[in-house]
Amino acid sequence: MRPSDSQGEKTRSQRPTVTLTWAGKQQPNTAVSPDVAAALAPLSQAGNALVQADNLDVLRFMADARIEPRLIYIDPPYATQVDHGVQSSDGAALAYSDTWEDATYCQAMFERLVLMHRVLRRDGFIFVQCDWRASAWLRVMLDEVFGRACFRNEIVWRRAPNLGRQAASAQLGRTADSIFVYSAAARTLFPGKLPQLLEPCECTREGSPIGAKWDEQAQTFFTTAPRGDYSDASIERLRSEGRVYDSGTGKVYIKYPLVRDDAGRWCKAITIDTIWTDDGVKPLRHATKRELAIDYVTQKPEALLERIVKWASEPGDLVADFFAGSGTTLAVAHSLGRRFLGVDRGEIAIQTTTNRLADTAFVRFSCDVGQQPSVQRRRPRVTRRKDASAR
Ligand SMILES: C[S@@+](CC[C@H](N)C(=O)[O-])C[C@H]1O[C@@H](n2cnc3c(N)ncnc32)[C@H](O)[C@@H]1O
Repeated sequence: MRPSDSQGEKTRSQRPTVTLTWAGKQQPNTAVSPDVAAALAPLSQAGNALVQADNLDVLRFMADARIEPRLIYIDPPYATQVDHGVQSSDGAALAYSDTWEDATYCQAMFERLVLMHRVLRRDGFIFVQCDWRASAWLRVMLDEVFGRACFRNEIVWRRAPNLGRQAASAQLGRTADSIFVYSAAARTLFPGKLPQLLEPCECTREGSPIGAKWDEQAQTFFTTAPRGDYSDASIERLRSEGRVYDSGTGKVYIKYPLVRDDAGRWCKAITIDTIWTDDGVKPLRHATKRELAIDYVTQKPEALLERIVKWASEPGDLVADFFAGSGTTLAVAHSLGRRFLGVDRGEIAIQTTTNRLADTAFVRFSCDVGQQPSVQRRRPRVTRRKDASAR
């Protein structure tokens, strides 16, 4: 694992002028205890790893050992005030507690984000998924920790259709998650292509896409659109790339080359924006039987992670998920040729992930898992995935 080039370049040049505060706010203790260091030592040598531990301990160790992921994705507890359970033969077993006092939640997330910023590779990215309960807090915290200049996107992902309880409630259905994207350093380019959707074109009987023109130079069909708000300089750059079409009437159009999909159909390649409601990242309920059978409460769809991992990392990179749950990020990272590091404190999460990765080589170990802060210990609610996706 590559040592940090320069932590300095990640450091914000200006102190934030707007910050979030809560009772007892303090900077994290970054010291690693000798016991924790000994328990986590195998991490320094691991290719792929799954660790049962409080992620704060793992992050402290990583900062010390300079283990630096290229991509961090986290889907932490959302502060739903529910103890999430799974059905076991003798009743409901606690998967994880998500009951918090507001200040305790903020402090717990702040400490971890500060350390995630410290360990993230200088050319790396972090994706933080949450919903309406904590999104405002986390956004301000991320600005403070990573710097506003490192904010890249807020993605809104439709996690559930507006049906049932949601649709019948007294306000608009709460069916969206936010995913905040930050880079470790300002102006870092994403290593992967911007995610695109392929929309098949209507074709003639001979197989030519209707309304498209043939580009002899590029040997492909293309469609056109007016230049819109492209500046003259941008038009000249596009012209040098062969991307400008001059109509017979003297008007300038931008060329959009068509591409073939896996089935050989001509398609329009549409670059997506920050609203993710397309069929490529449908809510979990539309996932395959194999994926649904994993059956972990608050599990996320593999397709969602695939889009993120492809866009923000490259083969061979280390991808970390410090709230791994059922191991969705790890399974996807592995299938895309990345290395993974997953951490979860929950026994059920670790067991579920271990089963999911049965055909994968990874080291698994644990480090004493302390008590999770929780304001009230209720009987865990067996939150079915369907409910959890409409939480
Ligand atoms: C929302 S779930 C993650 C679900 C996951 N994205 C998936 O697709 O299955 C959050 C997970 O964070 C874990 N967790 C909560 N606090 C933690 C902590 N301090 N350290 C490690 N794991 C923690 C919980 O056990 C739970 O499995």
